[in-house]
Amino acid sequence: MAILPFMLLVVKLLSLTSQICSVTDKITQYESLPDGATLVSQGGTYELGFFSPGSSTNRYLGIWFRNVSVKTVVWVANRDNPLANKNSGKLSISKEGNLVLLSKNGTAHWSTNQTTKGSSGVIRIAQLLAPGNFVIRDEKEEDSDSEEYLWQSFDYPTDTFLPGMKLGWNLTSGLNRHLTAWKSWDDPSSGTLTYGYFKTEIPELEIRNDSTILFRSGPWNGIQNSGRHSVTNRQLFNMDFVSKKDEFYFQYKPRDPSLIAMSVINQTLNAFQRFILNEGNRTWKLRSNTPRDICDNYEHCGSFGSCAMENESAVCECLSGFAPKSPQNWTANNWSQGCVRSEPWSCKERGKDGFTKLQNVKVPDTSTSWYNTSMTLEECRVKCWENCSCTAYINSDISGEGSGCILWFGDLLDLRQLPDAGQDLYVRLTASETVLYQAQGKANDGSKKMVVVVAITVTAIVLILLTLMLIWWRRKFEVRGFFMMKVEKKNDGDQEDSELPLFDFNTVAATTGNFSEDKKLGEGGFGPVYKGTLPDGQDVAVKRLSHSSTQGMIEFKNEVIFCSKFQHRNLVKVLGCCIEEQEKLLIYEYMPNKSLDFFLFDSCQSKFLDWSKRFNIISGVARGLLYLHQDSRFRVIHRDLKASNVLLDDNMNPKISDFGLARMCGGDQLEGSTSRVVGTYGYMAPEYAIDGIFSIKSDVYSFGILILEILSGKKNKGLSYSNHSCNLVGHAWRLWKECTPVALIDTCLEDSYILSETLRCIHIGLLCVQHQPDDRPTMASVLIMLNSENALPQPKEPIFFSEKVSVKDKSTSDSMTSSSVNEVTVSIMEPR
Ligand SMILES: *[C@@H]1O[C@H](CO)[C@@H](O)[C@H](O)[C@H]1NC(C)=O
Ligand SMILES: *[C@@H]1O[C@H](CO)[C@@H](O)[C@H](O)[C@H]1NC(C)=O
Ligand SMILES: *[C@@H]1O[C@H](CO)[C@@H](O)[C@H](O)[C@H]1NC(C)=O
Ligand SMILES: *[C@@H]1O[C@H](CO)[C@@H](O)[C@H](O)[C@H]1NC(C)=O
Repeated sequence: MAILPFMLLVVKLLSLTSQICSVTDKITQYESLPDGATLVSQGGTYELGFFSPGSSTNRYLGIWFRNVSVKTVVWVANRDNPLANKNSGKLSISKEGNLVLLSKNGTAHWSTNQTTKGSSGVIRIAQLLAPGNFVIRDEKEEDSDSEEYLWQSFDYPTDTFLPGMKLGWNLTSGLNRHLTAWKSWDDPSSGTLTYGYFKTEIPELEIRNDSTILFRSGPWNGIQNSGRHSVTNRQLFNMDFVSKKDEFYFQYKPRDPSLIAMSVINQTLNAFQRFILNEGNRTWKLRSNTPRDICDNYEHCGSFGSCAMENESAVCECLSGFAPKSPQNWTANNWSQGCVRSEPWSCKERGKDGFTKLQNVKVPDTSTSWYNTSMTLEECRVKCWENCSCTAYINSDISGEGSGCILWFGDLLDLRQLPDAGQDLYVRLTASETVLYQAQGKANDGSKKMVVVVAITVTAIVLILLTLMLIWWRRKFEVRGFFMMKVEKKNDGDQEDSELPLFDFNTVAATTGNFSEDKKLGEGGFGPVYKGTLPDGQDVAVKRLSHSSTQGMIEFKNEVIFCSKFQHRNLVKVLGCCIEEQEKLLIYEYMPNKSLDFFLFDSCQSKFLDWSKRFNIISGVARGLLYLHQDSRFRVIHRDLKASNVLLDDNMNPKISDFGLARMCGGDQLEGSTSRVVGTYGYMAPEYAIDGIFSIKSDVYSFGILILEILSGKKNKGLSYSNHSCNLVGHAWRLWKECTPVALIDTCLEDSYILSETLRCIHIGLLCVQHQPDDRPTMASVLIMLNSENALPQPKEPIFFSEKVSVKDKSTSDSMTSSSVNEVTVSIMEPR
């Protein structure tokens, strides 16, 4: 009787062994997979077998992509227990039905630990499935579709997260599927960097180095992880967080099933990266990087500090009602100590306690938070109000109307702004006029609403009247599509008015294709810059003030005022502006050659700048600055001179741009001071960066840096030299001291330079960056030095630092090109 199942088994075996010579995706209990043989998944995407990574000779069992130009391993079985010799290992299924990896002498280097025994007549197999999942299952007579595996490699990921895989917890068994990086590119053993869910209350994805949190994604808010920036990945992938009683996990799948994708945690980069395969050349294309920016770094701004990205850099601000814990460190851009309450606060006292709404924020660190998924926002607020140690509340789910409640007790950590994402957080503060949510009885709400309705109605009527007046007024004054606008002088001694043509918004919008993306030239400090062509054929650059930027409005006005007053061939020319309701535009002459940094710091482009062009640029910028400092009617301090603010016309003539931060002083006033230091790191004079004292000599300092950059083709900031760790100024100083200044000169210049001129320029550059402002020459002397052969004084030693972190403030300068996005500008707020 027992003979029938046996016969069946033999037939089955025969059919299997016949497959083994061709491509197969499985082994059975009676076969083994020796080093050298491989399994290939159906569809041919993945391959399983033995490999040695990079230059290593260790042998590992793993899964890799089969048709990719560079071998990409996605899973390793024996990552921490390699085989020493080639052709010594084999994979087989043990009597108990587990996978075991044995070396020649019979030592097990890896095995699975599932406990279900096979029943007779059933063949146990291990199969590499199409999605890259290696599974153990029993092959039943009837082909059942149930995806019940006795063991699966997807439950034990290495460093790669594949589509279809679950990242997360089985709460019954305590299994936590998370990624652990390879130690290095040729060593798959477990590194210290991990990615996954490490806590089960209010779960969120984290990158950790050992137990230190480096990044958190924010909890799932019903739509996405709350710290996600934008929807770009969602165009390609379906992403989902599933939370059930006994498990929760995160999963993704490409919308297009033929798209091959993977995500990897990388120890060297300290980052989690998503890739998609480029079908053409079978190479990986980086899709996104986590952490994406400096603000993503865990707790970048400390407690109650909020991080915002401006261009490529981070700025920390204390929440309103809070002030830096250590003003000194805060001023030095060391934000880690965070902020503390600056105003007296008393719990539940009317007028002294309330909530304010912060918009577009990532949910702060929830590790000590309380939560409830069924409460409403109102119940959440009441609950927070009741407890004097409660500092903030939020909806845990913002899909639909919003529901659920998370409360914070104590410090708020890891706050950041997300302009296009994030959600509303309600923070407990001393009540002031700005407080939107104050805990009072329900009865009060009715009368409050009444007041709001009345206020809105009145405002609306006033606005309509104003608009009508404006339309009437414009009709009256409109001439040929634009009219002249009077720009008032800030300086009250001078009654003369300057005139700047005012353009019609619709005309300008039309010339830029309604501000279409392909007309965009770059992103400036207070808004994007577009290329346009006026009806008369003239090319222009149009800078548009972002609606959201309040600081931008100040800079915009500043720029309008300056540009209307100052005209010089080495200053960029403003053709007009447009101020209509929400829209503020500045129209400049178009600079076909973008800005200096675009040429200077690009190995391909820098060839176009031979020595005579560079010398011409140095002289031109010097003349422009001299005009601002001395020859114009008012003394102007630019405050943000840098390579990206020097634009180049068709003939590579330099034009200084960007007066958003410029300051005007009385004719005899030589310096000013500010509590708000704005400018760009690497170009800022020490006395300005540290004490906020700006003068024409701080501009001279920036000019000195610019000279050194033009000569060396390198940025002052952001590079280090192998022999010592200082910036370009320090490097130049050392070479000067060692009498080898020639080594500073850009190798691109090779034959085109005139040695005496370049050495003279280095000399002048070093004179301009001297530590004491009084030691630095004026721009007038600089021009004389540039054009004469007289002996120059010896420079004194400059101060040079080599900062690691740098930041950009929202209020900083901008430029007309996108090549300057790496530019770093800082703002230091002086303590109040
Ligand atoms: C088998 O070889 C490994 C080295 O390859 C060695 O560490 C181990 O002790 C050996 N085991 C036996 C049983 O000889
Ligand atoms: C979680 O693990 C338990 C025990 O291993 C298992 O019975 C259960 O099916 C698993 N749950 C899920 C959802 O995979
Ligand atoms: C990590 O990234 C670096 C740089 O892209 C790469 O060279 C290296 O191979 C990666 N490491 C691993 C383990 O993939
Ligand atoms: C406030 O909340 C904290 C943290 O949950 C708790 O320890 C404390 O007992 C609460 N205080 C009151 C008065 O309910």
